[in-house]
Amino acid sequence: MRRFTGDKLVIASHNKGKLREIAALVEPFGVSVVSAGDLGLPEPAETEDTFAGNARIKAHFAAKESGLPALSDDSGLMVDALNGAPGVYTADWAETPNGRDFSRAMEKTWALLETDKAPEPRRASFNCTLCLAWPDGHDEIFDGQVSGRLTWPPRGEQGFGYDPMFIPDGFDVTFGEMDPAKKHDMSHRAVAFAKLVEGCFG
Ligand code: IMP
Repeated sequence: MRRFTGDKLVIASHNKGKLREIAALVEPFGVSVVSAGDLGLPEPAETEDTFAGNARIKAHFAAKESGLPALSDDSGLMVDALNGAPGVYTADWAETPNGRDFSRAMEKTWALLETDKAPEPRRASFNCTLCLAWPDGHDEIFDGQVSGRLTWPPRGEQGFGYDPMFIPDGFDVTFGEMDPAKKHDMSHRAVAFAKLVEGCFG
């Protein structure tokens, strides 16, 4: 396992919610972060059908273009009764001609469960796959999941994406209602991050 020894890391994401969460997670290690967007890098097409495949595309592209180590996050929601959908297509379900609309994506998810008369609780999990890539082509990959159930209507203004319809196991609040510090402690991203820290930053 390769250690991260620098003091500057590119966050290979254009997603503001992820950027906020990832910056908060690495800053305690004295690492300064710059986003791929701040460097003017375009978003590469995510052409793989696995989280790890797409995480690799994003991290290697940013590392190669910037000459710095780069960290990407490929994540998504997997709904049991929908055979794991939307999965790697989680962001795509929010696409509209005017940009991403997660209220619509959540409505679509719930409508499919209603059509299928899926029994309650409607189990789901979030997955996060992190890829830390270096400009020489080396990478390390880490995964994290958090399980829970979906609820309707969506609740809460915190977080991003599908947070307002997801209640993690052991809680009565959605990720959208949860204090962000608490979400950072126990989310799929936190689980993957703990592994990254242990493997590369510890
Ligand atoms: P991608 O990794 O950029 O392909 O997009 C993953 C999508 O999954 C995001 O756009 C979010 O909608 C969703 N997602 C990932 N992590 C979270 C989370 O922590 N809360 C809510 N939605 C998430």
